[in-house]
Amino acid sequence: MKVLGLETSCDETGVAVVEVASNGRLRLLSNIVASSLDLHIQYGGVVPEIAARSHIEVMLPVMQKALDEAGCSWDDIDAIAVTQGAGLLGSLMIGVLTARTLAIALGKPLYAVNHVEGHIYANFLTETALNYSLPQSPPEFPMLGVIISGGHTQLVLWEDHFKYRMLGQTRDDAVGEAFDKVARILGLPYPGGVSVSKLAEQGDPFAFKLPKAKLDKPYEFSFSGLKTAVLRAAQEVTGNDYSLPSTALPALLTERQKADISASFQRVACDTLVEKVILAHGEFHPRSVIIGGGVAANQELRRQLSERLPLPIEYTDQKLCTDNGAMIAALGAFHHLRQRSQADPHTLEPKPNLVM
Ligand code: KG4
Ligand code: ZN
Repeated sequence: MKVLGLETSCDETGVAVVEVASNGRLRLLSNIVASSLDLHIQYGGVVPEIAARSHIEVMLPVMQKALDEAGCSWDDIDAIAVTQGAGLLGSLMIGVLTARTLAIALGKPLYAVNHVEGHIYANFLTETALNYSLPQSPPEFPMLGVIISGGHTQLVLWEDHFKYRMLGQTRDDAVGEAFDKVARILGLPYPGGVSVSKLAEQGDPFAFKLPKAKLDKPYEFSFSGLKTAVLRAAQEVTGNDYSLPSTALPALLTERQKADISASFQRVACDTLVEKVILAHGEFHPRSVIIGGGVAANQELRRQLSERLPLPIEYTDQKLCTDNGAMIAALGAFHHLRQRSQADPHTLEPKPNLVM
């Protein structure tokens, strides 16, 4: 059984084919991602109109490449899965309309998938002939999912597929958003997670004392205070007061200071996540802990988790942490296997604010 997954929630056009192997495991047959990132960099963030137009331009060739890489034709595809939300309306629209058209033209079942949930399902891909480093075995239930992306920071406890409980989420900025904002303060390119973590390798993670948010609810997060503390630290270290606009900072900070701030911020952001994961592990005793979303690619986070979590943890390939069609196809495969309700290809609409 093969599922084609379509992802267009933001600036990545992702199409992938996932097969349910005879042993029930998920095999990644192809995963093609075309990003319009280059077109957004000069604006310091994703421009929705540009992203939507790019999806239109590349959708057909990306789909064809995904079929070619998987070595199959449309006849071999048993179901279509598409990201319905959350995401940018214009971007989601292109994926949803493509999926609806395919489902009608080919007469295949259509599944509407939650993007945020999809990030966790990237970890269910355990087999491939492609050049990806995948976990040895799929996660087991109960499973603690740590969803950390540009738009979400959530701790979710899964009892089984589609049976989960939200333990807590962020009250303000998502952790990926904090990386992006810190990058802006330091004058580093978007996406901030990549540039901050790269520069952090050369910095001293203890050079700056940055605060961790103290919240009364143990599984909630807050990253806006940490971001402001980074701004204050940068203003102080350049000998200025807090009235200095952040736009003036990149030119005043030395490379050393930028590296030290990056490393200190990254240490505290990761420590905050790991602390709560350990707490939840102690309370709920999951058999697996899984991280998903763009920030799951972060090496410092992986290092801290592996070192401190009293449970062996497997990570998926970094390429499957950021947005891709494979995670949507993987979650779609379980929709199909569990006979979840199919979407109506004549009426399915994108939901930009879809929540778990
Ligand atoms: O999951 P994703 O591709 O898109 C969303 O659904 O939001 O996540 C993008 C986020 C961005 O905020 C980016 O800065 C962050 O993931 N990110 C990272 C790393 N790579 C991407 N954050 C920390 N370390 C990384 N290596
Ligand atoms: Zn995402």
